[in-house]
Amino acid sequence: MESTVNPAMNRIPDHIAIIMDGNGRWATRQGMPRLSGHFQGYKTLHNTVIWAANLGVKVLTAYAFSSENWTRPEDEVEGLMELVLVALRAEIEMMMEEGVRIVRSGRSEGLPDEVVREFDHTTQQTQSNSRITLNICLNYGWRNEIIDAARRVAEMAANQRIQPADVDEKLLSSLMYRPELPDPDLLIRTAGELRVSNFLLWEIAYSEIYVTQTLWPDFSEEDLGKAIASYQLRTRKFGAVVDEQQAD
Ligand code: FPP
Repeated sequence: MESTVNPAMNRIPDHIAIIMDGNGRWATRQGMPRLSGHFQGYKTLHNTVIWAANLGVKVLTAYAFSSENWTRPEDEVEGLMELVLVALRAEIEMMMEEGVRIVRSGRSEGLPDEVVREFDHTTQQTQSNSRITLNICLNYGWRNEIIDAARRVAEMAANQRIQPADVDEKLLSSLMYRPELPDPDLLIRTAGELRVSNFLLWEIAYSEIYVTQTLWPDFSEEDLGKAIASYQLRTRKFGAVVDEQQAD
């Protein structure tokens, strides 16, 4: 069922996570190199942050580079890292004007030092911005996230700071990469694939999922509206029995 977004319904998702897929296909269809698709994808991300902030979304998480993306051709990997650097520098003005705080999720090891440094610097510059948080998943894989959490649990146990019974949902949540962020309410995937690709598997346990055929570089304000409108029509049950009339 399709509709248009209705901010008056007071059901704007606090946190939207996006798998930005289809850059390569978009470029190929235009007869352009894959990197042109990523560049256009970056422009779409710029716009989406502003559209989301204007709608009242508090957190936008974007899957920019997965732990598996290192297997791509060297020039594509290098081009994507360069694009991140260019974007961080180019977008500081937009982030300050629009109240965007930027943070990163994923392992630092493996990323070029310059990217880590520039990212940390931009995070610091934007740390007081409070309209929307942009969480960029870079060198991110959920299996790595749970491995890193498990290692910390093992360290705590080895140091006798915790007992087996202390390992619960609250502890594990606190060990994810961004424990201060709420779980995503809505997961959007572009380009039509029906999989979650090692993305936030703990955090999306109860997220509503929306898949659009639109390729990420073509993703528009209308597409975002359709995703949120679809979310507004869902009844969120969190595993419970809910009276459909009463559910908000
Ligand atoms: C997936 O499309 C997209 C990526 C692996 C990269 C996403 C990166 C951006 C949109 C740029 C983000 C920029 C910044 C500054 C964070 P694909 O290449 O797998 O597309 P395909 O499946 O059609 O080949």
